[in-house]
Amino acid sequence: MLDTTALNQQRNFFDGHAEIWLFGYGSLIWKADFAYLERRPAFITGWERRFWQGSHDHRGTLEAPGRVATLIPAEGAVCHGMAYRITPEVLAPLDVREKNGYLREKVPLTFTDVSSETPEQSEGLIYLASEDNPAFLGEATLDEIALQIANAHGPSGPNREYLVNLAAALRELGAEDAHIFALEYQLSRV
Ligand code: BEZ
Repeated sequence: MLDTTALNQQRNFFDGHAEIWLFGYGSLIWKADFAYLERRPAFITGWERRFWQGSHDHRGTLEAPGRVATLIPAEGAVCHGMAYRITPEVLAPLDVREKNGYLREKVPLTFTDVSSETPEQSEGLIYLASEDNPAFLGEATLDEIALQIANAHGPSGPNREYLVNLAAALRELGAEDAHIFALEYQLSRV
């Protein structure tokens, strides 16, 4: 298994910043088990959420990997999630937790809870598993993905729970995501 921990610790896009906006589009939306100063719903553009990343260490095993979310470049797409204002020391444990192929990337964020006192946009950080990482599984039919998710379990729990919680969190945000809601429906039939 690739370990991206050391690579990420050199990806210091926000060196010298006392605070960073971290944008979550997967489990970070519903499972923020780290300290944060503030959280705000937000979106990024040019990316689509897909269950195309293999999970051998959280929602599956080496023998039976699960599938978790990553982002695929897509012109004009909007991906909704949750942004957390954190201090930089929060990143090191996340680098370890997400070491199976995810790399830090810098992206522009747009907040959706805008008021006159708060900024509308900021630079932010995401963890991205691109198609050249060894755990990338890529495209499959909704049937295939749902079946794989239904059968995968790992140290962090059933893969099914990850998808169900993500879909619920997106509904709560009022966010549209055709891939996720179609997969949730497919999973309910497996
Ligand atoms: C996320 O929710 O954004 C996320 C969680 C784990 C790995 C990568 C991204």
